Amino acid sequence: MSKAEPSAAAGASTGALEIKDTRTGTGYSVPILPPGTEGDTAIRAMDLRPIKQSPDEFGLMTYDPAFMNTASCKSAITFIDGDKGILRYRGYPIEQLAEKASFLEVAWLLRNGELPTQAEYTDWTHQITYHTYVHENIKTFLQGFRYDAHPMSMLCSSVAAMSSFYPSAKNIQDPAERHISIVRLLAKLPTLAAFCYRHVKGLPFIYPDNDLSYVENFLSMVARMTEPKYEANPIFVKALEVLFILHADHEQNCSTNAVRAVGSSHVDPFSAVAAGIAALYGPLHGGANEAVLHMIKEIGDKKNIPAFIEGVKGGKGQKLMGFGHRVYKSYDPRARIVKKLADDVFKVVGVDRDLEIALELERIALSDDYFISRKLYPNVDFYTGLIYRSMAFPTDFFTVLFAVARTAGWLSQWEEMLNDKEQKIARPRQIYTGYGERPYQSKLDHSVGAQRKDAVRK
Ligand code: CMC
Repeated sequence: MSKAEPSAAAGASTGALEIKDTRTGTGYSVPILPPGTEGDTAIRAMDLRPIKQSPDEFGLMTYDPAFMNTASCKSAITFIDGDKGILRYRGYPIEQLAEKASFLEVAWLLRNGELPTQAEYTDWTHQITYHTYVHENIKTFLQGFRYDAHPMSMLCSSVAAMSSFYPSAKNIQDPAERHISIVRLLAKLPTLAAFCYRHVKGLPFIYPDNDLSYVENFLSMVARMTEPKYEANPIFVKALEVLFILHADHEQNCSTNAVRAVGSSHVDPFSAVAAGIAALYGPLHGGANEAVLHMIKEIGDKKNIPAFIEGVKGGKGQKLMGFGHRVYKSYDPRARIVKKLADDVFKVVGVDRDLEIALELERIALSDDYFISRKLYPNVDFYTGLIYRSMAFPTDFFTVLFAVARTAGWLSQWEEMLNDKEQKIARPRQIYTGYGERPYQSKLDHSVGAQRKDAVRK
């Protein structure tokens, strides 16, 4: 089989792991699964279950907090080689897609496995454009949020609420229902995101303009004021299109794992995607680009950088945000593309003090042994925040932009999970470390009304 072809599903074993249990002296042979296309190998955790000291024991499990070395699925969507800095969607290098493809073409590719033909692309674009409007009641719903609500909270809640507007979306085994839900989510996410933005700004909501491209329409809903037709800066349109492509998928990251895990209960995709948005919100994941900007603000001046770096190295929990990655242990390939994109955008808007601080931080960190020895390089979030800010997006909106793009990946991964016959409801095991059985002996005062009186006094 050539390396470019997808790997066949697990078939015959390609070898075995001989294990000896020193507690019992028993030997076991654990089959090694056939490798994936790029040579990834694994054993089935369930093949360890027969390893036990006595027949009534549960059997051996693997212990892997944070999934450091556990493959939770087989996937044909995205390939990452963290050591070599490679990222490919369905085999296509991210650099080529970022340069030549559109976001909707990539969204199709992620879901369907092949690039769309012209006819497929025209139809796909038409369907997504047709479904950009949201139910009017969603506007009322969004207006219930406080003026200073974080847009990620608003987005997460409104996507979850959409499941109540489309109750048939729960028929996830019906391919037609799955398709329309996927189209609706991709089409309506930019509209919801823009409505969240306008709400925080106290501006009237702008309805979709279906004459515009996906990205242009989004920028129009965000920024249009009194002009009858919004014309976005072409550099900003190109930058956002590329950023959406870079963020579209990233295999089994925290939020994708959340979508798969929640989706494995067979809930509707609106609820599963809302779970992904919640996971993305965290500062160690999608919230990092927002955190980079906060960090730069806190540093305030280039002269404060050495002291800041020393603080990070001091090991008191402070991190250089936008650096490091669970998978990339060399340069994040997305960061290289984004850095070049940042140069294009800054040619239009000019370089400011924050960018100078960022570039100096990067220079120092890349030459400091602390970061070099830990293989900590800038990740995609180090520069994206600076680009978004120079496009006048508020800091707390950055992760929303990430969520709009990642929806394409979440949905592709969700559908792949549903079609995977090996998948069941996600339900990890645990190693219990609490008390053994003990009798109940209350520590409360059980005299009549004692609880209520105490609560009132407090
Ligand atoms: N600044 C300073 N030290 C760091 C950093 C950092 N950004 N990241 C990791 N380290 C240190 C960490 O303290 C540890 O040091 P030691 O070995 O002395 O204890 C070592 O490097 C290994 O780190 P780790 O915590 O085991 O790495 P991880 O794979 O669990 O964490 C990470 C990955 C992305 C959560 C982490 O690097 C981090 O918190 N980075 C900052 C947040 C960030 O930029 N996140 C965006 C990730 S990319 C986009 C996305 O996935 O959404």
